[in-house]
Amino acid sequence: MVQRTYTSVALGRVDFRENCASCHGLSGKGDGPVHSFLVKPPADLTTIAQRHGGKFPQELMWDVIDGRWAAEVGPHGSREMPVWGSEFKARAMTEPGDSPRTAAWASRNRIVSLLKYLETIQQP
Ligand code: HEC
Repeated sequence: MVQRTYTSVALGRVDFRENCASCHGLSGKGDGPVHSFLVKPPADLTTIAQRHGGKFPQELMWDVIDGRWAAEVGPHGSREMPVWGSEFKARAMTEPGDSPRTAAWASRNRIVSLLKYLETIQQP
């Protein structure tokens, strides 16, 4: 399975290719094959720091990716970005021997790795 007990940029990169590139594009610029089917275009993930005063906002992006806070329908309709916190946890729960506790931990580690990876693709 994917990362359980540690986090790294490399793991984040693999996870990004598998789960995020369809919408955000391999480059993260929002040009993935699925983007034209979405109501809202996927964000350009290489300009997050630029759009936040030059600093990558770890906590804010954690909330966006984890997504559990955004489960209800907002002013712009329902969210198109999948709720990864719940999704990763649900997938981990299908692994033999996993408990809700270890699944939550696995999900957390995946998001940390994704954040580490996203930080490396920020444009100056
Ligand atoms: C089904 C398409 C889709 C997939 C798959 C997807 N996203 Fe997104 N993502 C979006 C859309 C659309 C937005 C922007 C609009 C919004 O607010 O819902 C977005 C926004 C974001 C943002 C906020 C960027 C900003 O500038 O505020 C981050 C970070 C992000 N996605 C990360 C990820 C990661 C990491 C994955 C994979 C684990 C992923 N996304 C997979 C559609 C997707």
